[in-house]
Amino acid sequence: THQWLGVIEEYRDRLDLPENTPTITLREGGTPMVASDWLSGLLGAEVWLKVEGNNPTGSFKDRGMTVALSVAVGQGAKAVVCASTGNTSASMAAYAAKAGIKALVLVPQGKISAGKLAQAVVHGGQVIMVRGNFDDCLKISRQLAEEYPVALVNSVNPMRLEGQKTGSFEIVDFLGDAPDVHVLPTGNAGNISAYWKGYKEYLASGDSTRTPVMRGWQAAGSAPLVLGAPVPDPETVASAIRIGNPASWDLAMAAAQESGGAFRKVTDEQILAAQRELASQDGVFVEPASAAGVAGLLVEHAEGADLRGKQVVVTVTGHGLKDIDTALSTFTDLVDTVVDADVTAAARAAGLD
Ligand code: F0G
Repeated sequence: THQWLGVIEEYRDRLDLPENTPTITLREGGTPMVASDWLSGLLGAEVWLKVEGNNPTGSFKDRGMTVALSVAVGQGAKAVVCASTGNTSASMAAYAAKAGIKALVLVPQGKISAGKLAQAVVHGGQVIMVRGNFDDCLKISRQLAEEYPVALVNSVNPMRLEGQKTGSFEIVDFLGDAPDVHVLPTGNAGNISAYWKGYKEYLASGDSTRTPVMRGWQAAGSAPLVLGAPVPDPETVASAIRIGNPASWDLAMAAAQESGGAFRKVTDEQILAAQRELASQDGVFVEPASAAGVAGLLVEHAEGADLRGKQVVVTVTGHGLKDIDTALSTFTDLVDTVVDADVTAAARAAGLD
């Protein structure tokens, strides 16, 4: 039986890598396409969820990190650095551990989830809390990489997008062609840029006959690509996408424009409602940021957009267990039911008798 080998081995001839690049992999990618019966029924469309929470560290970041770390190691790096809202750092720390090199993580103090922080720490990353936001952390990380012997593995490193574009390949390989519409949450804007690159490459090589419309959804308090200007003090409950000045601004704008798509925004309430619905209707638990695309689909449906008969793919970017505090905070009606260790008491409490 074939076991998925990770995105470098599966797509090596599609990746533009330096010669003699080693393969540092945790067998990332090969994530499931799950049919959303709920969204398909609601929209009259064929809606697929690309469930990126099934990656080794629980987010899509692993696709880019296997490539970025492999290339860095091939070039002799002994340490890597990144700024992060949590998932990039979790992924980088894991791949650096696998490679046996040092991981230096810069995160906005008090603004990343406990689960993601735990990942960076247990993988042996050195975590530096910055009194500032993600954009400040990225600026410092860039400077550190310029002035000290550490390799920057944020998505400004083109090797990250090179790996992340494999998400598109997997979708087309599965569906047989590109979908009509691709929806995803957008923060630092690397992922939408990578997906668009992948779709264009498959079209150019004849592996697909078309490219999808790309729709990126930002959180309302952190929506620079919607407003057309950086946001100095971004805010949102979706901490993964609390970013005011996306590094891949130009690439992302090009993706939206060339594909006939757009960037739009959803409120924190819409994000949390979509997260809860997705978990209870489809059995797919994602972190808040990852629900922004689903929230966007619901907004467009409510506005009267007609997606009937369309094939729609929604990338849900990270696992719900990354941030259980936020997930549970939406359950204001959550009341523990405590009973004696007794079947009658349990049945009565459950309303079964
Ligand atoms: N969803 C999740 C769960 C994320 O962690 C991120 C970005 C995004 C969506 C947005 O993707 O930045 O490519 O537009 N997280 C980064 C991090 C910034 O540091 O983990 P993007």
